[in-house]
Amino acid sequence: MSEPAPGTREPRLVPYARPRLEASEALTRAREFRADMAARRSVRMFSADPVPRELIELAIMTAASAPSGAHQQPWTFVAVSDPDVKHRIRVAAEEEERRNYEGGRMPAEWRAALAPLGTDWQKPFLEIAPWLVVAFEQVHGSFPDGTVKKHYYARESVGIACGLFITAIHRMGLVTLTHTPSPMGFLARILERPRSERPFLLLPVGYPATDCTVPDLARKSLDEVALFLEG
Ligand SMILES: Cc1cc2nc3c(=O)[nH]c(=O)nc-3n(C[C@H](O)[C@H](O)[C@H](O)COP(=O)(O)O)c2cc1C
Repeated sequence: MSEPAPGTREPRLVPYARPRLEASEALTRAREFRADMAARRSVRMFSADPVPRELIELAIMTAASAPSGAHQQPWTFVAVSDPDVKHRIRVAAEEEERRNYEGGRMPAEWRAALAPLGTDWQKPFLEIAPWLVVAFEQVHGSFPDGTVKKHYYARESVGIACGLFITAIHRMGLVTLTHTPSPMGFLARILERPRSERPFLLLPVGYPATDCTVPDLARKSLDEVALFLEG
């Protein structure tokens, strides 16, 4: 290995291994996991039933296990169950979404793409869901002396972390929505985040309402999403 650059830390390596599964066991696990994940849906109709904080903590720690550019872990998750804060988030989100849907801010093409989902500017679930988890991207970090520390691939890293969060929530029998009431600057203001953090996703979490429905959507087949170049 070449000499580390001046001022950088020597890499410290530790052994790593994973148990090698029998092929049949790997297939069984993969099929079970794929079937469970295929049952995941974005939910917009929540029950107000409470969800223990520990489940949210576990989902966030799962998210925080994600790979990240240069291992900078450029994410902050703010979990809100305070009804007053949820109310303020709903009001601000609806204000933005009303301008998008009814104030002419949303181009016709975007409106057409959303039509099959039946969404509109109203977001009552932002108060009904017991938790709102807001993922922030740390656009840059800072060194102990306060100077700016550049972050690499922060957006991609937070995206992967949010994918793990969504997966963890689903595995707990809970539901969430990948919500982007844009522009989302109000989330940084209400949650008093520093200027170095940019709102990435708003993820309400809870159980589905008893009368919950979701759009009837089809997912692309393997042939439509993958190419194999086999040797
Ligand atoms: C980046 C991103 C942003 C999204 N923003 C919204 C949103 O603001 N409001 C909403 O109702 N759904 C939003 N969705 C959810 C999508 O509409 C949903 O994932 C898609 O219709 C497929 O449905 P499914 O998640 O149930 O498979 C978003 C999804 C992604 C990945």
